[in-house]
Amino acid sequence: MYSTRPVKIAGMGYYVPPNVLTNFDLEKMVETSDAWIRERTGIRERRLAGRGASTSDLATEAAMACLRDAGVTAREIDLIIVASASPDYLFPATACIVQHSIGAVNAAAFDMEIGCTGFIYALATGAQFVAAGMYRKVLVIGAECLSRLVNWSDRTTCCLFGDGAGAVLLVEGSHGEGLVAFHLGADGSGKDLLSLPAGGARMPASSETVEKGLHYIHMEGKAVFKFAVKIVDAAVTKVLEKCGKTPQDIGVLIPHQANLRIIESACERFGISRDRVVVNIDKYGNTSSASVPIAMCEALHEGRIEKGDLVVLVAFGAGLSYGAAAIIWS
Ligand SMILES: CC(C)(COP(=O)(O)OP(=O)(O)OC[C@H]1O[C@@H](n2cnc3c(N)ncnc32)[C@H](O)[C@@H]1OP(=O)(O)O)[C@@H](O)C(=O)NCCC(=O)NCCS
Repeated sequence: MYSTRPVKIAGMGYYVPPNVLTNFDLEKMVETSDAWIRERTGIRERRLAGRGASTSDLATEAAMACLRDAGVTAREIDLIIVASASPDYLFPATACIVQHSIGAVNAAAFDMEIGCTGFIYALATGAQFVAAGMYRKVLVIGAECLSRLVNWSDRTTCCLFGDGAGAVLLVEGSHGEGLVAFHLGADGSGKDLLSLPAGGARMPASSETVEKGLHYIHMEGKAVFKFAVKIVDAAVTKVLEKCGKTPQDIGVLIPHQANLRIIESACERFGISRDRVVVNIDKYGNTSSASVPIAMCEALHEGRIEKGDLVVLVAFGAGLSYGAAAIIWS
């Protein structure tokens, strides 16, 4: 008979670079104001990777913190999955670079790119390997160096994004706890609403693409906003249905940190009080694939997640894509 093993999170870690860029700093770079950014997004400041650093460096720091937390050595890791919209290269995979940098010599490694939903997709994917019994220890990392892909003269996007990384270790758990449900989805008809047009096979880099700024993040903010509000509602509803829970059962909601107004709309819809939702967008901005694991780590460190809590993760992003996960904390 086909049977699967339960899967739980055995450790977590995160890393944000020390370099802070505040809204006031941005006021000196583009025509914007601290008041506008705070009111429209909830962001006060964001972290930027230091000169020469890239996504794999941030991912490595988060991975090491996660391994320390779990009390596991790098040699014990069977698989590394890195979710990122800002990988070091188109290839090789950032996961292979991390595999080498942490010394996980026994691990397979691959990347996943599904925009800001990346971590949820990677978590679901990593969980399948443990559930199937193929691997025992899977490291799932969300890592971004979006500051390298942002047009710092475009005020509509440059105030939104930040750099950082978060990691979790997945192992076999006990029945009735751990990762109990996932809901993943996509709507590719919205592919042009949030993209990095040039540098891939569709539009290879050229002097013309650079001249036109096509190697920077392009976003139609209002359309993405509307999608996000609708899809957070739908994804959370679906994942709760899948594990037989209701919004009242949610102990801690950890949403992707893209815009405080999107998060507030979800809280209102589900009747979730602010003390049950994790918000750190004010400090880090939108760190894409890294935002959910960073927020989850911080919430745990702050004692906001307890054993037995129903923790719901939800994210959305380029693709357009979306996903939610339900965890009974163990
Ligand atoms: C980007 C976002 C904050 C913009 O907020 P908004 O309320 O939709 O603002 P608009 O784009 O309608 O712009 C309103 C005005 O503010 C201006 N504006 C845009 N960015 C600005 C900035 N940083 N500072 C000052 N003014 C700004 C616009 O130019 C526009 O001016 P206009 O009316 O003269 O044309 C919002 O649309 C958003 O958060 N979208 C979702 C983004 C998201 O989640 N992305 C990640 C997905 S993973």
